[in-house]
Amino acid sequence: MTKRYQFGNPIETEAVLYKPDITKGECEWLQQSGRGFSCHLSRETIVYGLGESVRGINKRGWLYRSFCSDEPEHREDRHSLYGAHNFLLLSGDVYRKEDTEDALPGQKNIGFFFDTPGEIVFDIGYTKSDQMEITFSDFDLELYVMEGDSPDEVVSEFRELAGRSYIPPKWAFGYGQSRWSYETSDDVRKIAEEHKRLKIPLDSVYLDIDYMERYKDFTIDEKNFGDFDQLVREMKEEKIHLVPIIDAGVKIEEGYDVYEEGKEKGYFCKDENGEDFTVGVWPGKCHFPDMLNEEARHWFGDKYHLLTDRGIDGFWNDMNEPAIFYSEKRLEKVFSRMRELMGENLDIDTFFEMTGMVAGIANHREDYESFYHSYPYAPGDRKIRHDKVHNLYGYYMTRAAAESLEKLSPEKRILLFSRASYIGMHRYGGIWQGDNMSWWSHLLLNIKMMPSLNMCGFLYTGADLGGFGSDTTEELLLRFLSFGVFTPLMRNHAAKGTRRQEIYCFENIECFRDILKVRYRLLPYLYSEYMKAALRGTMMFRPLAFRYPGDKIARHVEDQLLLGEELMIAPVYEQNAIGRAVYIPERMKLFRFRGDSIDEERVYEKGYYFVDMPLGDICIFLREGHKIPVADSALRVENVPVEKLEIYSFGEKAEPYELYADDGETREYSLEKNIIRI
Ligand code: GLC
Repeated sequence: MTKRYQFGNPIETEAVLYKPDITKGECEWLQQSGRGFSCHLSRETIVYGLGESVRGINKRGWLYRSFCSDEPEHREDRHSLYGAHNFLLLSGDVYRKEDTEDALPGQKNIGFFFDTPGEIVFDIGYTKSDQMEITFSDFDLELYVMEGDSPDEVVSEFRELAGRSYIPPKWAFGYGQSRWSYETSDDVRKIAEEHKRLKIPLDSVYLDIDYMERYKDFTIDEKNFGDFDQLVREMKEEKIHLVPIIDAGVKIEEGYDVYEEGKEKGYFCKDENGEDFTVGVWPGKCHFPDMLNEEARHWFGDKYHLLTDRGIDGFWNDMNEPAIFYSEKRLEKVFSRMRELMGENLDIDTFFEMTGMVAGIANHREDYESFYHSYPYAPGDRKIRHDKVHNLYGYYMTRAAAESLEKLSPEKRILLFSRASYIGMHRYGGIWQGDNMSWWSHLLLNIKMMPSLNMCGFLYTGADLGGFGSDTTEELLLRFLSFGVFTPLMRNHAAKGTRRQEIYCFENIECFRDILKVRYRLLPYLYSEYMKAALRGTMMFRPLAFRYPGDKIARHVEDQLLLGEELMIAPVYEQNAIGRAVYIPERMKLFRFRGDSIDEERVYEKGYYFVDMPLGDICIFLREGHKIPVADSALRVENVPVEKLEIYSFGEKAEPYELYADDGETREYSLEKNIIRI
């Protein structure tokens, strides 16, 4: 049973779908102290949660700041990434407030959801290793507390509260190619052609900001994409979906209809003086549509039709933390200080002051404190300062799109994912994991983030495979893709100016092709697991500890994941590796996929083993008593022959597998109708 507590005057976020009655009195697990909470952590307690954040699956040992951030350097010393996912799950000897140190409280699984749109700091054993301190910029929140016999039970309870996760069209489980700098329609054609020539599967090509006219939302650059409609048609014939980006900032430009309309109707965020708030983002000076204002939200959402009318059926929403390159006020301050410093003999302090000032122009806290929304739930006259509701912006932008897209396309699903998010947004779209780097450590981060995101309801997700920033290598991309085989969003994306990382730019094409073939062969399984997780409110990726809580080693393994009820995966994330050490928590059988072939290899008993994993091999470990369906590979999702599945099982009496099969495009989801037990 979920308990709900209120503190101060919470601002509604619409994160959860239903609200249990308020429990009077204090929460038995958390000590209230000033503007926050604290609780004692026993040595063995694992703290799960926080969705998109740095570091491990167990969040202990670091300080996390829940504040959606445009943070292209996901280094481990960072405190925030793009999402604000305020869900924690404590598993182990969780103490009640009144429990004493010497009386072990016993195994518990307690979930907490801190629902407040402003900033929260989670100090999880950072200041004191056995202490968790949670502090709020505004101590106005709803707190939901869930207890369960297992971590899975807590998660399910939370997800029931938070509502069903977004379901994309099935084609969005195919491989997607993206890059910031596809500058003409011919660049896009080339991608399709090269993949076709080399027989590499491909279901989508992403259009980054270059397709727009000077980065203006809902426009098409007539010079370089003048034949846009023709391009969409050609791609459709090839069964390739084009997925354009939409940014949060609307360019200030006379005559640009979105700008003119937004201005006239008062739909942009305002500054202290009631003027439209101006910031710099990709197009130069912009205004932010006030996504929190219902009318403005619908207005912005309805603009997506300009692209759906032209045959587009997928979008990615970006820069919606919202990212601010500069505000006019900040530039003025910096320029004027620079003028003062010109010609000076800069000593160490002044020099660092100067460089710090320039580095700090973007996403400056003061800027987030100097614009306003008109939010129906804000106290008083609806006007509320941005930082108080900061974490909702990306959520409401994506909600804007989702609500309108559902009206525009009531039958067919549309692909939609966002960069910034808050819990609640998981009902409207997926997320990608932002601007990672072509670093091995980011592949590991990607692996660890999956279960944390799943807990919070974000199922449709994946990282920029190959890494977004800096130069990738063939080996890194191969390993990234080998993990990406399992993530619902499987997209290769890179930044402008980095080494090209389309598959056809490398030598070992055969190896890449083999990996992608496995993705398509496993689609019936992956899609089923996705749909069941969405419709039942469960996780697709789980930490080993969830299933083997009594196994000391399994409890701490963070570089292997359970996928559905059947599989365990152990991705390689190190350069020059020929395989890796794998912990087998129970009897399992190794299936080695390579392109069209599958080798049923040995059975492993519980223990540690070194397993060979050359580049291009995809290893899955099947639990005893289970089976999985495998299809022949195909070049497009819709061509995967789902009527002709092979079954691979381990054990005499394998449980039937629940295959979820639907048309993959309508919005009629049903476990009863679409599950076949095979
Ligand atoms: C942001 C996005 C990235 C995109 C770039 C240009 O950095 O996170 O994916 O390529 O903007 O639009």
